[in-house]
Amino acid sequence: MITNELEKDLQHTYGCLSEEERKKLSGSTVLLTGSAGFLGFYLVHFLYRFREELSLRKVLCLDNFMLGKPGWQTEISGDPRFLVRKYDVIHDRLEDIPEAGEADLVVHMASIASPTFYRKHPIATIDANVWGLRRLFEFYKERKLKGFLFFSSSELYGDPPPEAVPTSEEYNGNVSATGPRACYDESKRFGETMCRLFAQEYGMPIGVVRPFNNYGPGMKLNDRRVPADFAQSVLEGRDIEILSSGAPMRTFCYIADAAAGYLKVLLHGTYDYFNIGMDRPEISIDRLADIYREAGEEILDYRGTVRHAVSEDRDYLTNNPQRRCPVIDKAQKILDYHPTIEVEEGVRRFLRFLKESPEEQRIW
Ligand SMILES: NC(=O)c1ccc[n+]([C@@H]2O[C@H](COP(=O)([O-])OP(=O)(O)OC[C@H]3O[C@@H](n4cnc5c(N)ncnc54)[C@H](O)[C@@H]3O)[C@@H](O)[C@H]2O)c1
Repeated sequence: MITNELEKDLQHTYGCLSEEERKKLSGSTVLLTGSAGFLGFYLVHFLYRFREELSLRKVLCLDNFMLGKPGWQTEISGDPRFLVRKYDVIHDRLEDIPEAGEADLVVHMASIASPTFYRKHPIATIDANVWGLRRLFEFYKERKLKGFLFFSSSELYGDPPPEAVPTSEEYNGNVSATGPRACYDESKRFGETMCRLFAQEYGMPIGVVRPFNNYGPGMKLNDRRVPADFAQSVLEGRDIEILSSGAPMRTFCYIADAAAGYLKVLLHGTYDYFNIGMDRPEISIDRLADIYREAGEEILDYRGTVRHAVSEDRDYLTNNPQRRCPVIDKAQKILDYHPTIEVEEGVRRFLRFLKESPEEQRIW
């Protein structure tokens, strides 16, 4: 169901695309892996909402549903142009997916993004980013694609020293090869290496995005990422618990802006890699909690407070970066990517979206 708030967000994303970008999307068959996740929720709803305007031919939504099968996919698959399939990028064969061979645009998102959950499935995380990606390349390397988008992560920078924050694409990273986050960070790094090599050897139009902390509609409230945790506390009227000192600094990029960046990279048509995020304001987790509290009071009559607590998960803070803030000049210059929704506004939009979503649909 596309609620009023989601409609506004999807319109915002659509409005960020140029005529030329819309033309490139037009008439396409799009294949997405990891389509049942947070970013999948948003991108699939975007394609669903604008399926007529963009004359989409087919949208193939693939996911192994390892974190559950969200109900919204049932509604989407009522449209014959949308195919929803249980599919594991590590083992299953694309030959068995009808029309996978005709895809013009491929989006590889399959890989759990929440540190709490990828640490529970570390080897599956490596496999999705490395073997899953490699198998997609094997299938598509001789086929004619308009674009292939790999979701890397800002985590490939690890914990940068102060002089490397804000962080540009040219910073090489400070990452532990053996720490509890290594399964994620290192597999994204190796995935990026493969992207470069397949683009070089086969001329594939591969775009790589390094997302910086997205939040908003589609984020599962129980997935243990900070913006989801805070939203869940506000909705349930519980105190907001900060599980770190509250001092780590982040910028947060609202999904309606970030999705425009992802689509721009997908449609760019030649190999390149981009930071996609928001470059301002860089705020502490303490401040983010206050923003949720203030927005909650305004929108949901929230009466809770903010307090500090200790996570039961011993590795929760190991290798947690102290600062995460992107330089986005490259995407601004090359792709005309200009995010505008600052965190105070984004948190309000997210809470309004949650307020108007039926309760049983809040955990997607
Ligand atoms: N959301 C962010 O802020 C963010 C930040 C950095 C990177 N990313 C990257 O973007 C992508 C999407 O992120 P998200 O927030 O939607 O993640 P998510 O965890 O919400 O969703 C990931 C989806 O991938 C699916 N999946 C995992 N392994 C699979 C496999 N082997 N085969 C098929 N499906 C599989 C899961 O079932 C899930 O539905 C991920 O690659 C993630 O690493 C996201």
